[in-house]
Amino acid sequence: MLKAAIMGFGTVGSGVYEILEKNADVVSNNARQPIEVKYILDLRDFPQYPFQEKFVKDFSVIENDPEVAIVAETMGGKGAAYEFTKRCLLAGKHVVTSNKELVATHGAELLKIAKEHNVNYLFEASVGGGIPIIRPMFQCLTANHMTQIAGILNGTTNYILTRMIRAGLPFADALCEAQAKGYAEANPSADIDGLDACRKVCILSSIAYGDHVYPEYVETEGISKITLNDVAYADKADCVVKLLGRTVLNDDGSIYAFVAPHFVSKSSPLASVEDVFNAIMITGDMLGDAMFYGQGAGKLATASAVVADMIDCARHNEKRRNIGWGDGSKKLVRPLDTFESGWYVRLKGKDAAEKLKAAFPDCTLLPSEIGEVACLTGKVSTKDMRAACEQLKNVAGCMRVL
Ligand code: HSE
Repeated sequence: MLKAAIMGFGTVGSGVYEILEKNADVVSNNARQPIEVKYILDLRDFPQYPFQEKFVKDFSVIENDPEVAIVAETMGGKGAAYEFTKRCLLAGKHVVTSNKELVATHGAELLKIAKEHNVNYLFEASVGGGIPIIRPMFQCLTANHMTQIAGILNGTTNYILTRMIRAGLPFADALCEAQAKGYAEANPSADIDGLDACRKVCILSSIAYGDHVYPEYVETEGISKITLNDVAYADKADCVVKLLGRTVLNDDGSIYAFVAPHFVSKSSPLASVEDVFNAIMITGDMLGDAMFYGQGAGKLATASAVVADMIDCARHNEKRRNIGWGDGSKKLVRPLDTFESGWYVRLKGKDAAEKLKAAFPDCTLLPSEIGEVACLTGKVSTKDMRAACEQLKNVAGCMRVL
């Protein structure tokens, strides 16, 4: 019997407990022994649950109990979660987590501590919720150079965009609906401003290229400026608007890494990923494209990945899984200036069509609305596109095309 602790009894943490109870048979079979939750750390009270004896408010109870071998950190954030995770690893306990902010910010350091103390720090649930993606990247795809990663990494924004596309709701109304359904937080910034997707890009890039990619190097744009006009032009271009996290490998080993809304061609499998679903498309130089699709958020889906990590820790209780990456000193991320792409540009005002044609001679004009014109360009670097937008002045929408 292995003893475990859960730190943070919110949506995911309570899901972890529920799965360990409900699926105790399959957990025990796969872990080769039962896993029992000895402590649940949370500052809040939960009088509705019968297992009151498990709740603790003092972290040191977990830290100082040598019987606790595995800790599930489902607190979120990088404050107390960072300190407690470090202290658990230093105390020789395996830690598993769904906390993408912590892995994206301190992953290299925490993995190093885990290695030094011969324990695991696992984070399958940190990207794509319940979708298997971290292990495939660490194991199944390792014979490839990963030339490109493109993912719909945030369920809330994908829900909002889906409602804009399918129901014609303006952004603000679609956001309200997402909040009413419990997808978006009361303060939705981490989702709609792309920060959550940025953290996930950091984690995927760090695994793919072996050196920590920190959030401050990943240019990030959210979806709050997208209008129904953009959605309508996308349809005319046989595309849909999606928020993508992307990493592109250059010949010299550097990468472009960024989060931004895109026009995604309807012929791409990413275009049909709707509602709160996530998908990650990875291109390997030997494999070609592989897409990982499923529930990117949600209590039991995410918790199932956390519990799978707990099971993996039980199986590797004596011999840790050798995973990790460098400390970020390689500075892999190249500024986006030189990154070339096709673009969608929407321009308002007088003589808009002529102005677009002058700025992008090879562009294709899209059937337009009154008072504005939109086009698709050929390949233009980010730097040149920014300069063109500044010169054109009345640009109302501008996105890369995938
Ligand atoms: N807020 C996140 C999302 C939760 O909407 O995808 C999962 O990371």
